[in-house]
Amino acid sequence: MALNARVANSKIVAVHISKVYTAKKREMIAMRDINIEILRNEFVGIVGPSGCGKSTLLRLLAGLDEPSAGVVQLNDKVLRGPGPDLGMVFQGYTLFPWMTVEKNIAFGLTIKKLPRERIKETVDRYLAIIGLTQFRSYYPKQLSGGMKQRVAIARALANSPEVLLMDEPFSALDPQTKSSMQLLLRQIWQLEKPTILFVTHDIEEAVFLSQRVYVMSSRPGTIKANELIKLPNERTLDLKDTPEFIAIRRQIEAILHDDDGD
Ligand SMILES: Nc1ncnc2c1ncn2[C@@H]1O[C@H](COP(=O)(O)OP(=O)(O)OP(=O)(O)O)[C@@H](O)[C@H]1O
Ligand SMILES: [Mg+2]
Repeated sequence: MALNARVANSKIVAVHISKVYTAKKREMIAMRDINIEILRNEFVGIVGPSGCGKSTLLRLLAGLDEPSAGVVQLNDKVLRGPGPDLGMVFQGYTLFPWMTVEKNIAFGLTIKKLPRERIKETVDRYLAIIGLTQFRSYYPKQLSGGMKQRVAIARALANSPEVLLMDEPFSALDPQTKSSMQLLLRQIWQLEKPTILFVTHDIEEAVFLSQRVYVMSSRPGTIKANELIKLPNERTLDLKDTPEFIAIRRQIEAILHDDDGD
């Protein structure tokens, strides 16, 4: 794939980025020479073994940390720190416990000082999308894990971030809730086409959600493959049982497990 940062359509680009951590006076290469490119409106997955640097990569792309070498560009400009253009959803539930569901979703919009009517409109729309309209006045502690994660996703999307970076957001959920969250996220993407980069251990999840999947090697993480997921745009959960889906899933599993440990 062309890695020309000037490709008009590219939203976020990492060019030859590496990350070296120093702990107890010893250097540890967490990630080496990573090149990735996410196009506008694209849904891209990243899979890789535990400790290969997936969260590190997301933090660099979010501007929360700096690469030891290489650059990250957002909209053709070098990223110099975190900003409102990037939304993050983490594995844990990171809602504000003292705010209601509604206030949590409105948070970013309130900070931006948008007109009250605009905020209400947006919050109402996302409450409907995530199916929690009746829970608008609840506090996070009154919600289930899946409900909290739906609110976290709505809060990130309501802010209309340039890119939504998601780090294993569903890994703590039970299998059934996880599947319905996958379906919901894919439906939101179909509807609103946000640019999404989604990190997961779960190959099935990455294949179901993404248009394209990067496969990382074990530490120090490098990009082993960049696989186009040739599946229909309209996706329902039964797609996971089709021969086409299974073939793609196995192909990615094979790439992932063909790890010579370099
Ligand atoms: N702040 C830090 N200081 C030192 N080392 C770190 C730091 N953050 C991460 N690392 C190391 O970098 C490597 C990659 O960590 P990272 O969390 O990015 O992996 P990961 O792919 O997200 O793993 P998992 O799938 O388990 O979440 C690990 O060996 C980890 O110990
Ligand atoms: Mg991680």
